[in-house]
Amino acid sequence: MENIERLHREARSCARWLQGLDEVEIVSHIDADGLSTCGVLVQALRREGIAARIRFVRNGGEALGGPPDLPRVFAELGSGRLDDVQRLPCPTLVVDHHPTVGRVDRAGPHRVFNPRLLGFDGTQEISGSGTAYLIARALDAANADLAALAIVGAVGDRQDRRHGRLIGLNRTIVEEGSRAGVLEARVDLHLFGRQTRPLIRLLEATGLDPGFLHDLDIPVKNGHWLRWGDLAGEERMRLASGLVQWSLATGQGAEAAQRLLAEGYTLPREPEGTPFRDASEYASLLNATARYGEGQVGLDLCLGDRDGAYRRARTLLGRHRKNISAGLALVHDQGLEERSHFSYFCAEDRIRDTILGIITGMALERETGAEKPLVAFARAPEGLKVSARATPAHTQRGLDLGPALMRAAHAVGGDGGGHDIAGGATIPPGAMEEFLDHLDREIGVQMAG
Ligand code: C5P
Ligand code: ZN
Repeated sequence: MENIERLHREARSCARWLQGLDEVEIVSHIDADGLSTCGVLVQALRREGIAARIRFVRNGGEALGGPPDLPRVFAELGSGRLDDVQRLPCPTLVVDHHPTVGRVDRAGPHRVFNPRLLGFDGTQEISGSGTAYLIARALDAANADLAALAIVGAVGDRQDRRHGRLIGLNRTIVEEGSRAGVLEARVDLHLFGRQTRPLIRLLEATGLDPGFLHDLDIPVKNGHWLRWGDLAGEERMRLASGLVQWSLATGQGAEAAQRLLAEGYTLPREPEGTPFRDASEYASLLNATARYGEGQVGLDLCLGDRDGAYRRARTLLGRHRKNISAGLALVHDQGLEERSHFSYFCAEDRIRDTILGIITGMALERETGAEKPLVAFARAPEGLKVSARATPAHTQRGLDLGPALMRAAHAVGGDGGGHDIAGGATIPPGAMEEFLDHLDREIGVQMAG
């Protein structure tokens, strides 16, 4: 049973815990949600006069390391290894939405704030940044402006995908952000780059050429290349319905047509034409930073730097995009290997381990109606990195990737976990074949039950 009263009570209790401190160390996960979580916490703490030292980490294991001289806040990680976290000699606070493994120790100096523990769905209805936001709001009602960043994290985790809009606790955060004037939710054309891409490039994702715009009498240039936001409302309607009709006429199915329209989240206080104004583009920019070892750049963006950090991030984003298209091309050229219950590919060192999950998710999406989940391997500093992605249709048949990856990884001396549609693991370098066997068995059992 979900319990909203208890959730807010626990948030207040975490807020009081933080207020008793002068300085904390925040260990932050390196994806868009991790950075947003960290950004929400740092701003809320600064406003209370609490200093924060930041360390960016790739996983829970790294977060456990480092000298325990300060109370430690885990930003969007830690839930997968609660026993280890609670064995640390420093006081800890886990702020996370991942599935928990281990027991919550209510007696010691440790706190775990995770809405899953109170029955909320951490996969779809609240992100790490949303969880951090609940604490921020408990610290001070004036922190409602941080709702914008909380939603960037949720969109970064693609929590809007299944329903075409954010639901549950995320919905409440959207409403609070709207009231605070920092967020707007609107059903809109669902193509990436609405804020920053010229229309002709926005269409690239659909495979259509500029002639399509011409036929619909949509202007593409007026001194400069026009973007989605430059069009008049009536022109936007014409283009959106044109796209939906095209999608139906070309036999892509009602579902694909429906996916062209989804709720989008605008940050109206951010400058027009910048990625910060669109939650999805903002999240993508964040992903281009910490995943390439430049976490401070990402955090500075979250803290409002629209100058030096933005310049650096744009360079990183260019590289990130190239890496993603090169990765997708690699998957396409190399092809997939098949197991009974999933497809997989091994990228060796041709895909950076920190973006393997993004590429796996996109590769799966490209195959509409993908029959099986997709599993991917790449070399990482600490072994072999595994990413796995599935669709809601797979989970409806019983699939739950997180536990399956965890068990298969443990069986070969590795470590893993995650959500139902997104799981990951790190395993010893030579263990791929053995891991594949275990994973096939685990997923087979899930789908049979
Ligand atoms: O790295 P990737 O994006 O593929 O991770 C997918 C999910 O699996 C994330 O929720 C991540 O926290 C989880 N994961 C894990 N243990 C690992 C690697 C990933 O729990 N060793
Ligand atoms: Zn997350």
